[in-house]
Amino acid sequence: VNQFHTPVLLNETIDLLAVKPGKTYLDATLGNGGHTQKLLDRQAIVFGLDYDPNNLEIATQRLSNHPHFSNFHPILGNFKNLSRIYKKSIHQPLDGILFDLGLSSNQLLSANRGFSFNDSHSLDMRLNRRQTLTAEYVINTYSFDELYQIFTKYAQEKYAKPLILRIIKQRQSHPITQAARLADIIRDYYQQHHLNTSIDPATKIFMALRIFVNDELENLKKTLHQTLSVLQSHAIVCVISFHSGEDRIVKSFIRTNSQQVLNLTPKPVLPSLPEIQQNPLSRSAVLRSYRIK
Ligand SMILES: C[S@@+](CC[C@H](N)C(=O)[O-])C[C@H]1O[C@@H](n2cnc3c(N)ncnc32)[C@H](O)[C@@H]1O
Repeated sequence: VNQFHTPVLLNETIDLLAVKPGKTYLDATLGNGGHTQKLLDRQAIVFGLDYDPNNLEIATQRLSNHPHFSNFHPILGNFKNLSRIYKKSIHQPLDGILFDLGLSSNQLLSANRGFSFNDSHSLDMRLNRRQTLTAEYVINTYSFDELYQIFTKYAQEKYAKPLILRIIKQRQSHPITQAARLADIIRDYYQQHHLNTSIDPATKIFMALRIFVNDELENLKKTLHQTLSVLQSHAIVCVISFHSGEDRIVKSFIRTNSQQVLNLTPKPVLPSLPEIQQNPLSRSAVLRSYRIK
C-alpha cells in the first residue's frame, strides 16, 4: 500500500492550471505533496502551504529527493490568511493557486488525532494545535441546540435529535474522549433501529464535527475572496471540494464575481470511473476552476 495520500483529479488539475516550466504556483493544501510533485515534474516553481505542521514535514521530506526540489518552498499557515501569507512569504506574481480541500488519508487514518473511527486515544480533530477548539470540547460541553445546528447544517444528519440525546446521556455518565467511543454511540443507534447504510453511519457526524472545529467553510469563503486581490490577470484557481457545502461556496463565488473572474468549468469536473474504482476516497470530489480576467 501507498503510505502517501493519493492525489485526486491530478491530470485534470494540471491541465486546467496550464502548467509550464518556470510558471509559479501556490499549492494552498500541500498535504502529502501529490499535486506539488507533478507541478515540480513540469519544472514549475511551487509554494506549498499547509496548516498541519505534520503534513508540511511529510511532504517536504518526500519531495526532498525530487530533481527540482530547489523550486519548492514550504510554508506553514492557514489559507484563510492568504493575503498576509502572500505578502510575507511569496511576494511574486502567481500563475495559479490550487485548493484540494479536506483532509489527507494519513490524517484521516491517524491513530491519535481523533479523525478516525478507530481512534481510541483522542477526539481532537484540530489541524493545528494552536487552535483552541477541539471536537472533544464540542461533544462534551455544547448544548443540545448547538449540537443540533452542527449535525444538521454540516451533515444533514436525519437522526440528529435521537443521536444527540444519546451523546448527552453518555457524556453525563462519562466524558467522551475517544473518537472510537463516539463512533460506537452512533453505530449502536443505527443498529438498534435496523437502519442500513452503505457507508459507516458515523461518517457524516465525524465530517460535520471536523468542518466545524476547523471552521472549514468560513476559511474557504475568506480565501476565495483574497484570491481576487492576490492574483494578477490570467492567473488560474482550481478548487477540489468533497462536500456539497464547499462546492456551493465555490460555485456561488464564481457566479457572484463574474465581473472579475471567468468560469473555466461551466460543467464541474468529476473523477472518472477508473479513478473512483482505484481510489474510493475520490468519489465525492468536484473540481471547479476560474481565471482572473
Ligand atoms: C486533501 S489534502 C491535500 C492532498 C494533496 N493535494 C496531496 O496530493 O497530497 C488537504 C490538506 O489541506 C490542509 N488544509 C486544510 N485546511 C487548510 C487550511 N485552512 N489552510 C492550510 N491548509 C489546510 C490539510 O491539513 C491537508 O493536508
